[in-house]
Amino acid sequence: MKVKLINLPKLEDPRGNLSFIEEENHIPFKIKRVYWIYDVPGGQVRGGHAFKKQQELIVALSGSFDVLVDDGEKNEIYSLNRSYYGLYLPAGLWRQIQNFSTNSVAMVLSSTFYNKNDYLHAYKEYLEWLKN
Ligand code: TYD
Repeated sequence: MKVKLINLPKLEDPRGNLSFIEEENHIPFKIKRVYWIYDVPGGQVRGGHAFKKQQELIVALSGSFDVLVDDGEKNEIYSLNRSYYGLYLPAGLWRQIQNFSTNSVAMVLSSTFYNKNDYLHAYKEYLEWLKN
């Protein structure tokens, strides 16, 4: 699937830890956009769709959640629960974010500006797109 759980740099310090991400260094794309998902009520699911072109890196800045990734044939679940893990997703995968803990924050670094035409909203539509 070419999904990669990236161990980001972590500078441990008695004053508090520090992690960072550099485009084209820790992640294989230029960052066009950053967005974050927060204040998620218990049991809610976000991001259930696929992107045709967008590559992304998902980081649990706070708390934890699961990212379900599906390539049309099989799926995998990645639990993000440390702020120094980054989940890299190449383009063309279905994904949804679920099982958010209270006060969790999901930060997404994206290789594209927001473009509604890059979305495949329905899983069936995704499977059709994969055939072409
Ligand atoms: P959407 O990506 O559908 O959220 P989720 O993946 O959690 O289902 O986005 C929700 C709304 O926010 C939708 O109306 C589009 C808008 N939006 C932007 O305007 N810019 C962005 O960068 C993102 C991610 C969403």
